[in-house]
Amino acid sequence: MQRYGVQTAPFRTFDHIADARRYVRAHGGPLVIKFDGLAGGKGVFVCGHTQNALAALDELSRKYGDAARLVIEEKLDGDEISVIGFTDGRDIFLLPPSQDHKQLLDGDRGPNTGGMGAFCPVPGWHDDLQREIESKIIRPTLRGIAAEGMHYKGVVYFGIIITARGPYLLEYNVRLGDPETEVLMPALRNNLAELMEACLNEEIGRHVPAFADGYFVDVVLASGGYPGDYETGFPIEVRPTGDVRLFYAGVSAQGDRMVTAGGRVLHVVAQGADLDEAIARAYAGVETVRFRTKYFRRDIGRRLNAILSGKTVAP
Ligand code: GLY
Repeated sequence: MQRYGVQTAPFRTFDHIADARRYVRAHGGPLVIKFDGLAGGKGVFVCGHTQNALAALDELSRKYGDAARLVIEEKLDGDEISVIGFTDGRDIFLLPPSQDHKQLLDGDRGPNTGGMGAFCPVPGWHDDLQREIESKIIRPTLRGIAAEGMHYKGVVYFGIIITARGPYLLEYNVRLGDPETEVLMPALRNNLAELMEACLNEEIGRHVPAFADGYFVDVVLASGGYPGDYETGFPIEVRPTGDVRLFYAGVSAQGDRMVTAGGRVLHVVAQGADLDEAIARAYAGVETVRFRTKYFRRDIGRRLNAILSGKTVAP
């Protein structure tokens, strides 16, 4: 990111926990510590204070030894947005901006999950922000991919935080997001297979994006207990309604019945002329699906959007 001028949080890398401790003591302040390696989703620590950061380093040292490689970066405050596109290595076809809700509990509290819901597009989004993201994050990334000789064709997922100082890249993925995809695909009017083919044929720039009007909301129905221990095998009853689409996730067939078979069981997705209507329709759809231990968040789509709504964020 530094090499290609992609706007991201200022960071330092460390090869030894002792150096990282010295840095944290000298630097202080809110920091994010990222372990370099596979950590089963538990390698990132968002530390509001020096003491939390030192405790995180102790934990990493216990788990991975004193020679653990780390990134320590400035903690940024703002709204996290997912910007996902299809690239042919030169141009990119961007899907509407979306947001997911990662935490289990209302108000973005509790443990992280695979995603409890999502919505698109993002209210308050505007052309200037889109242009800034394209010039400071997306274009430099594509230039970097080409300059590194990667010949990458496919999906790029930009995890971006919109701060009072502008947009910063938090992460890349080379896949679609979940649960973002469940709201993005119903919004997409272009033919998905043609877009994929255009990536391969280096013709993505010829496709004009077309999206449905209005907003889409996805409420995830989970098994009670998830992301901890939970029971499965409960029959799922669905009363059909034309207003929502259901995307099955942790579901299996048992004879002629559907039964729960995972932590996140299914997605209820609805469209509305505005976000409020989409939320109301999705939650009406939630009532049409029944299974024992059904759990869902009640505030999907209700994120504050502090920056985008023009409200200031505490430093
Ligand atoms: N929704 C976050 C992700 O797919 O990584």
